[in-house]
Amino acid sequence: MNHPFSLDLTQRPRRNRKSATVRDLVRETELSVKDLVYPVFIMEGSQREEQIPSMPGMTRKTVDVLLKEIEECVALGVKAIAPFPSIAEEKKDRTGSESFNPDGLVPTCVRAIKEKFPEVVVMTDVALDPFNIDGHDGIVSPMGEILNDETVEVLCKMAVCHAKAGADFVCPSDMMDGRIGAIRAALDAEGLTNTSIMAYSAKYASAFYGPFRDALDSAPKAGDKKTYQMDPANRKEAIREVALDIEEGADMVMVKPACYYLDVLREVADFSEVPVAAYQVSGEYAMLCAAAQNGWLDRRRVVLESLMGIKRAGAKIIWTYFAKEAAKLLQEEK
Ligand code: PBG
Repeated sequence: MNHPFSLDLTQRPRRNRKSATVRDLVRETELSVKDLVYPVFIMEGSQREEQIPSMPGMTRKTVDVLLKEIEECVALGVKAIAPFPSIAEEKKDRTGSESFNPDGLVPTCVRAIKEKFPEVVVMTDVALDPFNIDGHDGIVSPMGEILNDETVEVLCKMAVCHAKAGADFVCPSDMMDGRIGAIRAALDAEGLTNTSIMAYSAKYASAFYGPFRDALDSAPKAGDKKTYQMDPANRKEAIREVALDIEEGADMVMVKPACYYLDVLREVADFSEVPVAAYQVSGEYAMLCAAAQNGWLDRRRVVLESLMGIKRAGAKIIWTYFAKEAAKLLQEEK
């Protein structure tokens, strides 16, 4: 029997949403724990852990404490870890020489992880900001300029140092010109042909990195990062950077931040022949945590929805501080 009011519709898209099982059948994007990379903050010492106020739930921790957390990650299926070091002020200098100390914090951490969890993939950050006194990703000249080629020389040493310690991926996040090709050549010259490069290719000069710089005390002492990180207004430039990095030998490329740059991510994903990663950065994490803490957003749902948006926009790999939480939520969904 027809209701008194009935539209004469042939197309009713809602039929494809009529039950959970039908929705599962038509679902175009699947989020998996296998997509996730978990960035963590490390510091020297033992058995210590410090809260990071602007990143609730995230801490700076010593390597022994991190190893316990990785045990938990592995049990949840999170098997890619990206350690970021907090370096004591007295170890910083103008050129960031601590960054390629084979007994430094990062190589020590990499060796410890690979020894205990050989199947875990370790991705190390290659940039000078935690190591130089200026808090910039490159060496700063007396005139306040960021020196490109001099910086790349140090980045090559840093990448080789991480690779020798066992890093599976070195991840240049500095945005200097020509660093991917130079690092590839430096690795190959040492016989490290199996070490992969994940290039932060389209990395924007974003205010959303604020909490990360709190975590590592790595904010620039003077000036900003606009002469090397990209202008948030630019789209085509992202393709240019990605094309160059692929040509120079990047195994994967990245767009960063993620959620305010989904248009860029989609374009890069359509263009790139190599897998594309996106980094849901500290500020994106902090915003969702803050809103959830206030009871303004449903944390469980926005965590998965934000990650789904990133995946739908074309990321194969997602760096997120929510990795462990998302893994648990995905398990519960099953
Ligand atoms: C450093 C680096 C930064 C991030 C990753 N690597 C900070 C910056 O460029 O200032 C930011 C990550 C985040 O905000 O979560 N080269």
